[in-house]
Amino acid sequence: MTTIADTPAFPPRRDLTDGVVLLREPGPGDAAAIIAGATTPDVVRYTRVPSPYGAEDLEAILRISREGWTASTDAVFAVCDAAEPGELLGLVGLHGADLTGEPGGTAEVGYWLRTEGRGRGLMTRAVRLVSGWAFDDLGLAVITWYAVAGNDASRRVAVAAGYQVEGTLRRWAENRGVREDSWVATLLPEDLLR
Ligand SMILES: CC(C)(COP(=O)(O)OP(=O)(O)OC[C@H]1O[C@@H](n2cnc3c(N)ncnc32)[C@H](O)[C@@H]1OP(=O)(O)O)[C@@H](O)C(=O)NCCC(=O)NCCS
Repeated sequence: MTTIADTPAFPPRRDLTDGVVLLREPGPGDAAAIIAGATTPDVVRYTRVPSPYGAEDLEAILRISREGWTASTDAVFAVCDAAEPGELLGLVGLHGADLTGEPGGTAEVGYWLRTEGRGRGLMTRAVRLVSGWAFDDLGLAVITWYAVAGNDASRRVAVAAGYQVEGTLRRWAENRGVREDSWVATLLPEDLLR
């Protein structure tokens, strides 16, 4: 049986940047920005953020960011404009990584942006960066993406990073108690548009 102690930790935390977008560890100083993003109507509609969103939910995402890293299951990054690294514009994360000591694992990508951060390609850059890091530094073999069918904004981001849409999984997403169809895509290292 594999235990957390056997699981190799993700590499030490470091920022990821392409000079335009900066991905860094989120912290308590980002509280107001995280709450603003997590309560944006289409973030509530299309992601699994809790709604209503309370102090305990904020603490939970910061805990997932800290403890998921040491358990090698979740890599959560604040998405910032590289020129304003103190201002969190969104979150991007890899979740459910199955790093068991050997390269070749999988994880699921997820993301949202506050409205202030949209329309300038920051999330496309962020998804490219985090996916490249996962392949290069973590040795993942496949990254998956799921979205509620009809979430075209998310699909444009995923496709622009190279994700290949595989199809529609009927009633796969359970969203606020309602089952909805889900789009699914995968990214292999050779697909990534860096
Ligand atoms: C999904 C989401 C992050 C996309 O945000 P976004 O601002 O459209 O994404 P990007 O930062 O990559 O920007 C791309 C947009 O900026 C525009 N853009 C402007 N300059 C650009 C540049 N230099 N490079 C790329 N795109 C640029 C593009 O035209 C594109 O707009 P379009 O999608 O209307 O064509 C956002 O809509 C969101 O948070 N939605 C709610 C949560 C959600 O659905 N999350 C995903 C769950 S699966």
